[in-house]
Amino acid sequence: MSTNENIRWHTGRLSIDERATRMRQKPATLWLTGLSGSGKSTLAFALEYALHELGYSAVVLDGDNVRHGLCKDLGFSHEDRTENIRRVAEVANLMNDAGLIVITSFISPFREDREQARKIIGEERFREIHLSTELSVCEERDPKGLYKKARAGKLPDFTGIGSPYEEPLKPFERIDTDRLSLEESVARLMKLLQLQPIER
Ligand code: ADX
Repeated sequence: MSTNENIRWHTGRLSIDERATRMRQKPATLWLTGLSGSGKSTLAFALEYALHELGYSAVVLDGDNVRHGLCKDLGFSHEDRTENIRRVAEVANLMNDAGLIVITSFISPFREDREQARKIIGEERFREIHLSTELSVCEERDPKGLYKKARAGKLPDFTGIGSPYEEPLKPFERIDTDRLSLEESVARLMKLLQLQPIER
């Protein structure tokens, strides 16, 4: 990565704290990680809605969506996934600086990449949430038919089949969507985040 001596950081008059105070919320990034089909996107959007209902401003950065734009030049090699996660972490960090609560839903299979995301976003804002739904369940669900393709040898680097998934060792929380309903999963995370309705 090039750091150019001809560019410098500009600091505005508005501090991150002033922004957060105006928005009446503590910015954070809820980093959902897990296999394809583990329920990340469903939970992310349900959580976003639940936060909105309580008066919070939250936004989802979703793997499939981000790969339509910001990361459409990237594939699924280890190197490309690392770059995917780095870009998303940088965007989440900027959104947190702007006062938003960010929910990311990316497989983010490599521990090192997630640790890099933690560093970019900052320890105090980063919450790693492992969607720990078993591979067999994800494969059974196969919402996009990709496991079937991978088993047939048509998607050689598919996570969980031809490419590894490194489980978080100490996540902030584990959610198994095979055991918890969507409502229970949302409720559990809302409780952990200790968010109360905010008066406007
Ligand atoms: S990540 O590994 O770089 O974090 P990301 O979450 O952005 O992945 O994208 C995953 C989505 O891309 C999956 O939900 C799936 O729909 C699609 N996909 C296509 N090819 C692959 C592949 N080889 N491995 C995993 N997901 C894939």
